[in-house]
Amino acid sequence: MADLRSDFVGVKSPNPFWLASAPPTDKEYNVRRAFEAGWGGVVWKTLGFDPHVVNVNGPRYGAVWGADRRLLGLNNIELITDRPLEVNLREIKQVKRDYPDRAMVVSLMVPCEEDPWKKILPLVEETGADAVELNFGCPHGMSERGMGSAVGQVPEYIEMVARWCKQHTRMPVIVKLTPNITDIRYPARAAHAGGADAVSLINTISSITSVNLDSFSPEPSIDGKGSHGGYCGPAVKPIALNMVAEIARDAETAGMPISGIGGVTTWRDAAEFLALGAGNVQVCTAAMTYGFKVVQEMISGLSQYLDEKDMTLDDLIGRATPNVTDWQYLNLNYVTKARIDQDSCIKCGRCYAACEDTSHQAISMSADRVFEVIDAECVACNLCVNVCPVEDCITMVEMQPGEVDPRTGKVVEKDYANWTTHPNNPASQAAE
Ligand SMILES: Cc1cc2nc3c(=O)[nH]c(=O)nc-3n(C[C@H](O)[C@H](O)[C@H](O)COP(=O)(O)O)c2cc1C
Ligand code: SF4
Ligand code: SF4
Repeated sequence: MADLRSDFVGVKSPNPFWLASAPPTDKEYNVRRAFEAGWGGVVWKTLGFDPHVVNVNGPRYGAVWGADRRLLGLNNIELITDRPLEVNLREIKQVKRDYPDRAMVVSLMVPCEEDPWKKILPLVEETGADAVELNFGCPHGMSERGMGSAVGQVPEYIEMVARWCKQHTRMPVIVKLTPNITDIRYPARAAHAGGADAVSLINTISSITSVNLDSFSPEPSIDGKGSHGGYCGPAVKPIALNMVAEIARDAETAGMPISGIGGVTTWRDAAEFLALGAGNVQVCTAAMTYGFKVVQEMISGLSQYLDEKDMTLDDLIGRATPNVTDWQYLNLNYVTKARIDQDSCIKCGRCYAACEDTSHQAISMSADRVFEVIDAECVACNLCVNVCPVEDCITMVEMQPGEVDPRTGKVVEKDYANWTTHPNNPASQAAE
């Protein structure tokens, strides 16, 4: 079994799977059971000062499901912890004492002034916690009070608070970023400039998941009214992956540790975050949907994958980062064509409808429903692959250098060439 031991900003854990700050880490009872199930660490549900917040007393979740009713996206209007600070601190201390090998990170959110941060940090330090995570991400409820994403959307505030925290604690400081921003590199750079040890992302995405068409209330509905919530779960993973990659490959933040969060449900999801540059991952919705034991599949799956690839965890981290590039650097001499495997085709016709109506009329249908690709029309867009209900029934096959692309009539070149030098690019040298 591959060694999954992880060291994230000096915080050690037996594996890179941490529970994100949320209901699964809200109290001692949960966290103890999470550790027993195998989680490498937790980020305790966000603490604030007393008087503690109050949550709504009606439903706090909205959801989006797949056709099989599997949860794809979860929306919540929950606030930070609604339990007294003293109770949380006492429990954190007890759990850390009993599980010294697990990562115990404490999430914090207090007003955007130096004094409250200066006051709360020693209280956390006293528990023996390994690090703090600054919650600059929560997009609902707290942001209206000038905290959470209201801070995370202003890079100058991020830098300022990160600097205060570094001044007032010896614990590593992780800044948790909001995705509710146009360019994630700016808040990450600000965290870096403020001296933060790492960033974690993403927190939830501002969202309304549905509207009740009888009562005309957004859901979850509280007495006929709804407010936007924060979206998470498998549906947000692509957004999170992109943001992690953007930070990992940004020259200003290159090398800054990243804790990847957003839709991690299986070991594969985790491996993808790691490959794009995350040093570990955090999980919330998957644990809320399937229970704490989901971590066991993550541990065995990642371990088996690393063994099969003969890689260490460190080898995997950032392995895909150099392959993330800008569109203009993609190889325009890479030519593929769709191929349909007639043996696995169930003749549903989805590929035909998609290509005929919305792509390039590159699939023919015979009277007895045999579907074939017309190479002279196929632009290799890959839409048919994605709409086909049978996995691997349609594949994209690379044309070899020297072959003639029947669509363009041009010989496929072997050398890499991109848009920057393409004759159609008004800015390219070739066009001059
Ligand atoms: C009900 C709920 C409450 C949450 N509370 C917090 C919180 O207190 N602090 C925080 O930093 N993030 C909070 N989050 C966000 C999660 O930590 C995480 O960033 C987000 O859910 C994305 O991960 P996921 O897709 O694995 O759920 C909460 C999420 C949910 C669903
Ligand atoms: S790859 Fe695109 S253009 Fe080619 S057959 Fe499929 S849908 Fe049509
Ligand atoms: S979508 Fe797939 S299964 Fe359906 S007709 Fe096309 S190739 Fe066959």
